[in-house]
Amino acid sequence: MTRVARTLRGTPRNLALLARTLQAGDVVAVPTETVYGLAANALSASACQKIFRAKRRPATDPLIVHLASARELESVAEPNAAALALAAAFWPGPLTLVLPKKKSVPAVVTSGRDSVAVRVPAHPLFRALLRRAALPLAAPSANPFGYVSPTTAEHVLDGLGARIPYILDGGPAAIGVESTIVDIRDPRRPRLLRPGAITRGQLESVLRTRVIVPARRPTAADTAAQLAPGMLTRHYSPRTPVILARTVAGWQPAEAPKEAFVFLRKPPGRHPANVFWLDPRGDLRGVARRLFATLRALDRGGFRRIHVELASGDGLAHAINDRLQRAAAKG
Ligand code: TXA
Ligand code: MG
Repeated sequence: MTRVARTLRGTPRNLALLARTLQAGDVVAVPTETVYGLAANALSASACQKIFRAKRRPATDPLIVHLASARELESVAEPNAAALALAAAFWPGPLTLVLPKKKSVPAVVTSGRDSVAVRVPAHPLFRALLRRAALPLAAPSANPFGYVSPTTAEHVLDGLGARIPYILDGGPAAIGVESTIVDIRDPRRPRLLRPGAITRGQLESVLRTRVIVPARRPTAADTAAQLAPGMLTRHYSPRTPVILARTVAGWQPAEAPKEAFVFLRKPPGRHPANVFWLDPRGDLRGVARRLFATLRALDRGGFRRIHVELASGDGLAHAINDRLQRAAAKG
């Protein structure tokens, strides 16, 4: 693929150029603390259409609107007290709230829904760009639809370099998995649409109510209502088949040199060249941070299959296993 995108550091001059690019209705790839996003003016239907075209994303999959601060929430959504409490507790940060939308948000952003997904990101360069552009910015992950989300500027260049003008380089993403999404339209029945770094337990302690976790496979009713489009089963997928393991007890990497074996933590002793690990000590924050970059690298490694150890426990393990299950899903 020819590479036309320019990768820029976050100097004041570059931020001014990127803000003008966004104001003129073009797209810019941006760093966030979760994954890189492909941003455009959320108030412009034609600008947002460019996101769908660049990603080859189906028009039925809505975008997340990013704001410079929670004070702007009412410009795009109708918050309730529960939403404001979550915003106060977790913004800026990796939490996306689904709320009734305001008319200002064009239908292309929400795929025609009357709800909008909103978050205030924590990455300092993205925040600086949001302030400079003085616009809400719609941004899904900056990868071709269905592939593994990008956690570095280089990943964005690999996937979309031929289709976008600029990438703002903010270094490797600190969290590495996409934001937690909670549907908070009905404060008595909050629904966790996608697990992320903000855990269900953290949400429940602020809301003081149970957060419902819908079944991972969307039900016929969900599909009909198009409530949770990002829950498409196959997503975040490398081209090499991914096989998940609850336990690594049966793994014999030395006997399958054409297959990759990915442990959560560094296994003791010597290991063959087809053995990998996500974090030296198996720390789940490290695992999340390295997960997508590792899947991408192994996808290019010429392996027949990629075996990955599942995480155990709650919290971040829920988000890690969710992404692994999607990476492993067939069709
Ligand atoms: O961390 C993140 O959330 C990253 C960064 C760039 O902010 N964004 C991201 O966007 O991961 P992505 O590619 O997952 O797309 C947004 C997802 C949709 O697939 C859908 O699941 C959900 O957000 N979404 C957006 N609007 C929605 C709505 N009105 N109702 C339910 N889900 C919605
Ligand atoms: Mg995505």
